[in-house]
Order: sequence, then structure tokens, then C-alpha cells
Amino acid sequence: MKFEAVVLFLGVVRGVVLPRDDTSSKVATIEAKNFKDLGAKRVQITYGPYLIPSSTDEATHGMVTSREMNALMPCRECFITGFTTDLRFEDGKTTANANKQMWLHHSGLMNLNRTDAACTHWPERMGVNGNERSSIDFTLKGTRKAGYYLRANDQVFLTIDAMNMAPAARNVTLVMEWEYLPGIPADFDIVFPIWLDVKGNCLNESSGAKAEDLVFTAKSATGWTAQHSGDLILAVPHIHDGNVNQQVFQDGKKVCESIPGYGETADFVSHNEGGDGHGHDHGTSEHTYHVSSITQCENVAKVAPGSKFTITSEYDMKTHTPMKDHDGSLEPIMGIQFLHLARPQAEGIKDILAMKNGDLDAFVAQVRGGGG
Ligand SMILES: *[C@@H]1O[C@H](CO)[C@@H](O)[C@H](O)[C@H]1NC(C)=O
Ligand SMILES: *[C@@H]1O[C@H](CO)[C@@H](O)[C@H](O)[C@H]1NC(C)=O
Ligand SMILES: *[C@@H]1O[C@H](CO)[C@@H](O)[C@H](O)[C@H]1NC(C)=O
Repeated sequence: MKFEAVVLFLGVVRGVVLPRDDTSSKVATIEAKNFKDLGAKRVQITYGPYLIPSSTDEATHGMVTSREMNALMPCRECFITGFTTDLRFEDGKTTANANKQMWLHHSGLMNLNRTDAACTHWPERMGVNGNERSSIDFTLKGTRKAGYYLRANDQVFLTIDAMNMAPAARNVTLVMEWEYLPGIPADFDIVFPIWLDVKGNCLNESSGAKAEDLVFTAKSATGWTAQHSGDLILAVPHIHDGNVNQQVFQDGKKVCESIPGYGETADFVSHNEGGDGHGHDHGTSEHTYHVSSITQCENVAKVAPGSKFTITSEYDMKTHTPMKDHDGSLEPIMGIQFLHLARPQAEGIKDILAMKNGDLDAFVAQVRGGGG
């Protein structure tokens, strides 16, 4: 397999596996959780395997991005009502996490046939997840009729950024569960994802955070302004180790607060090796507790054209050890809140049909070199 140093979905230069068409993903049917009476279906898709090289590989340091240019979707001409994401080993069953020296840095989905609500010339950022592996449920456990409308020919780009901290090369798979309703279900609103980021709508603003600070609050400089009415039904955060709190404000008023949990299960606790790579005495200082969950907000707010959303993200790296890359540099901090705006079906579909393909090259050019 060939690697080259190019750019990552979220902006860190690492090895990237050449893009490919999705030919190897596997689908299994499982039981739906919500709206079974309306014909909801649930499937598990196993993407991969992706070979993640050794941590001692000079070209990649064990960090690579794998890309599916046209990822297998659970359905076509349907409403996606939720999805979960997990990184596993090649068997598709065993969880790959910090305790086994394998990380899901990020997985990201982009709909190339739509334009992004926050950065309007890019393709639509549909979802992002990190090692916290958040679940997304647009129906709020079956209490809200809302879903993401996927058309028959929408092309979805999937990127998986995994990091191997062990000397042996290993294969991983990305296992996603998708729930959906076939067709265009009556009375369901359409969900539009909005990427609210301390680095700005197009990832080109300063969050105010300085590299040398250990305790700080990163803030969006401008924020995102709504152009349509709707219900902000769900806010899903993505942050890195070191985060202690993240807040979203609508017109200056706090509407959502997210708190991360650290090392809540053994999977999220890594064992540090001694300086020479051989020490391993299992004292408490030999363990690092990583973000294992982060709270989401539901039924966040009513949105009107002109409503303005801003975000603050607090970090305390004295209390929580930040993540490091293999070269010893700190991972860039992140402060993202994925907002989900539910809009009436007819006007939502009209807007979607009017969208052009987003400019993937412009997105890649912006994130090249660190994305702020
Ligand atoms: C999405 O874009 C791809 C690539 O340009 C194209 O083949 C496909 O037909 C488009 N789908 C829609 C729904 O426009
Ligand atoms: C990774 O998976 C491929 C395809 O199944 C297999 O040929 C290869 O031997 C695996 N490599 C490792 C290191 O497990
Ligand atoms: C960020 O990029 C967008 C889109 O190209 C542009 O409109 C905006 O002015 C840029 N902001 C800054 C602070 O450079």
C-alpha cells in the first residue's frame, strides 16, 4: 500500500491512503429502535479494513487517513434518522481504543452534492466524530419526526483518521449503525447540519487560544447566523482531551452546555510506557484518562432568520493531559458543536434540490496546514 503526506479532513498533515471507491464495506440488518411502526430500518455497515501502519513507520508515525470517495450508504431516497460510529479491529467486533493503543482521531462525512450551511462554497459537512464515539439520534428517542434527506444519487465522502500507537501494523474497521425510513415519510422535518466552530464558519478565524496556554477559553470570533426558521433539535459536540466545558449561545443567551467525561470505562484509559519504552509499573501516573463521552443538548431553541449562534470552549490541560502526536507536538485543540436544524419538509426539499455540488478542493485547500 502506498502512503503520501497530504492533508486530512480536519486539518492535520499525516499519511493518507489514496482515495478509493467503496467496494469492500459489509452490511448487516439489525433491529430498528424508533418509529418501527412507520417502517424504520436499521443496518450495521462495516467499512474497511484499513491498514494502519506501525507507530515506528517513518512516513506516517502510525497515523493515516483513509478515504472512501463514494461511501456505502444504508439507503437511497430515504430519511436517515440516526447513526453511531465505532472503531474496531479487523474482525469488526473487537473495539479498538486507547487501552489497545489504537485511536479514532476523527471520522467525517461530507455530502458532495450539497453545500455547507456554515461555509457555503464547501460540500456539506454531514457529521464528525472522534474517539468519544458519540451517537446521533435526530428523532430524540422517537419523540421527534426528523431526519436527514439522502437522495438517490448523493455522493457521500467518508474519511477515517486513525492512529496506531503500537509497533505492529494493524487493520481497523469503522463500524456504523444507521437507522432510516425509506422514501419521504409524511410529517417528517428535514435536518440540516451546521458546523459551529471556535475557528469560524470556514475554519479561517482565530479562536483566541494560544499554543503555550494550558488553561484558556477558545471563542468563535463571528459565529453563525441563521437564514431560515426551524427548530434546533440537537447539538452534538466534538472536542479534544483537555476540554472541560463547551457552551453555545443564541443571540448572547446560553442555550447549550456540554461537559465531557474522562476514562469512564477501561477502553478509554491508556497505559503510558516509561521514557525508555520499557518501564511499565502501573502507578496512577502511568495512566492517562481520555475523553469517553460528552453531553449533547436536545430541543435547544427555536430559530428565526437572523438568530446568531456563537460558541466558547474551555480547556484545562493542567487537569487533563492533552493528546500528543508521535512527534511530541500537541494535537490542535478543537471546539465544534454540530447543530441540527429541523425545517419543514417541503421548503427543505426545495432548498436541497437547488443546491449545487460543493467545492471539495476549496475545503482541502483551507484545511491544509492545520485549519487554524
Ligand atoms: C453528485 O455528484 C456526483 C459527482 O459529480 C454526480 O455523479 C451525481 O450525479 C450527483 N448527484 C446528485 C444528486 O446531484
Ligand atoms: C490487513 O487486512 C488485509 C486484508 O484483509 C490483509 O491482507 C492483511 O494481512 C492485514 N494486515 C495486518 C497487519 O493485519
Ligand atoms: C474566511 O473565508 C470566507 C470564505 O472564503 C471569507 O468570506 C471570509 O472573509 C474569511 N474570513 C477571514 C477572517 O479571513
